This record gives sequence, C-alpha cells and structure tokens, in this order.
Amino acid sequence: MEFTLHSPLDMHLHLRDGAMLETVAPLSAKEFAGALVMPNLVPPITSKEMVKEYKEQILQASQDGRFTPYMTLFFKSEYDYDFLQDVKDTILAIKLYPAGITTNSSDGVDNFSLDALAPTLEAMSELGIPLCVHGETNGFVMDREAEFVPIYERLAKRFPNLTIIMEHITTKEAVEALMCYENLYATITLHHLYITLDDVAGGLLQPHLFCKPIAKRPEDRMALRKVAFMAHEKVMFGSDSAPHPRSKKEAPGCAAGVFTAPVALAALAQIFEEAGVLENLQKFVSDNAQKIYGITPPKKEVRLIKAPFEVPEKFGDVVPMFAGQKLSWRVERVL
Ligand code: NCD
Ligand code: ZN
Repeated sequence: MEFTLHSPLDMHLHLRDGAMLETVAPLSAKEFAGALVMPNLVPPITSKEMVKEYKEQILQASQDGRFTPYMTLFFKSEYDYDFLQDVKDTILAIKLYPAGITTNSSDGVDNFSLDALAPTLEAMSELGIPLCVHGETNGFVMDREAEFVPIYERLAKRFPNLTIIMEHITTKEAVEALMCYENLYATITLHHLYITLDDVAGGLLQPHLFCKPIAKRPEDRMALRKVAFMAHEKVMFGSDSAPHPRSKKEAPGCAAGVFTAPVALAALAQIFEEAGVLENLQKFVSDNAQKIYGITPPKKEVRLIKAPFEVPEKFGDVVPMFAGQKLSWRVERVL
C-alpha cells in the first residue's frame, strides 16, 4: 500500500540551536514542507533581530531549499503596537508560556490577569498575529491543562478576533472547550495520539516519553484521537518534537520532551491507517494548518509505503520515540 502526502506541516517544533540544530533540522526539513519553530531558546527569541538571525541559522542547517521555518516570538506583555507592527512580517505567531511551566520558560507570563495582557493581545488581534499558548497552570500535574481551560475561555471571549492556538492539547476538557469558541484552534502531537500516562510510568519509567504536558488518561487520548482522525478543521498536527541530549533524558531530573520529528510521518500513517482514516491524514498534517494560518508552504510530495521501518536507536545524541522498534509504514521518497 502507498500513500502520498502533499506539503506536510509540523505546526509546533523545537529545533534548538548550535550542534543540536545541526542534528535535528535536516530531519524535519527532509520530510516536511514547513514547521512553526518554537522560540524557547536560552535566551528566548524576543526581538526582530533574533528572529532573523535564528531563521538564517535554521535555513543553513536544514539543507533543503523547500523547507519553510515559520518563526515565532516568545510572548512578553511589554510588546507594544509599534514593536509588533515592525516585527509582524518576520513571524507567523507569538508563543505564550506560563512562567516556569516547561523547558526554558522562566521568562514567561506570571500574571494572567487579562488587563495586564490586554494591550499586547489587542495589538496582536488588530495586526492579525495569532497567539499560540502553552496551556497549563502550576497545579497538580495531571490537572494543569484542565485548570487552564477557563483561561482559554476568558481569552477567547475577550479577544474574539484573535486567533488562539491551544498548543499540544492532551485532555477531553481541552477538546470540549476548543469546540465552543470560533477563534480557538489546537495542535495535537504524535505522542499524545499514541500514549497515556501508563506508557510513561505504568511499568518501568520511560524517560524518552516524559514531556509537558504529561500524557493523560485513556479517555483523554480517545478524545484527541476522535478529532484528529476526523481531521476536524480546528485541529492540526504539531509534533512538539523536543530533542534533548541523552544525558539530560536518562538522568535524575529528566528533561521534558519527546523527540518525534524523524518518525512522525511514518507513525501518523500507521495510526491513521489502523483507524481506517488514512484519507484524512492530508488535512490533519497540512490542509487544516494552511487554512488556520493562511499559509502556502513549498510544494513537496512525500510518498509513504506500508513496509517495515526499523527506527534507529539514536539520531546523533538524541533518542527518538519508537527507538529500536518497528513501524509498519515508512517514508519511501520525497519529490
Ligand atoms: C518542550 C521543550 O523541551 O522545549 N518540552 C516538552 O516537554 N514539550 C517545551 C514545551 O513545548 O513544553
Ligand atoms: Zn513545545
């Protein structure tokens, strides 16, 4: 069996910088036509100059002229209209992190009073800049996303013309909220379609599956699968592929992040085929994102075939999801 994807997009990707960027950028660039690149470097990307310089580094490292890095800024409530107007053409979105909630987010937002955020969000709304949100509180780890849902609702109501992307949703509560507001959209990762908390911590601890938000319950996974498999127009693929060197994962104080970029399309084909909905994968992994963000990625045809794919143990110093395991689909050719 064969299947061709046209210009697949990864709308939530961590490419890092330095040597890690050199390792991971070509893996995404080979199979994807574009990706929304997260700004949580150290220090975070907070100026037009930083965006331009980082984009240049990514283009250099990606070794593929048909890969578009869609750039983001790290949200600060100090951004004013003039700053945003000036930076607008160099970015596709701005990513908001609650302070300290995940990797490299200590400079994030610690005051969710909408009045404090309003000037920046109103300016973004006027300028048509989408807001991507890491939606977790600092409550009990399993409840963090559900607790954040009222904040999403307040944002959606107060800024009806602002496009808000609920990043890497993991719960049925998030799926329900998503459906209630016209201006809410969401990304869904590969790993949250595959795993629950049981896969992370139900047996021997699996550090390479540890991420934020943490994988949840079977009923949550079911809610995600339902909207992803039907390629609901409000959802799109965002891998949240988040590479960390092995020494940071296989360690006390394991870093959060699952590295999925080099297995994403094969594993998506596998799970969509198993669900009998392979024909919906094109929308989930490209068309919906094109509509939501109003983008036209470079043309790239990715031919997948149903044939065993033995996933390498490592890419450079990074262990991917499914390391050493066999997937039933693989990328055969990219045209
Ligand atoms: C991400 C990272 O490592 O940058 N980690 C993760 O667990 N997903 C950050 C993030 O998206 O939360
Ligand atoms: Zn992320």
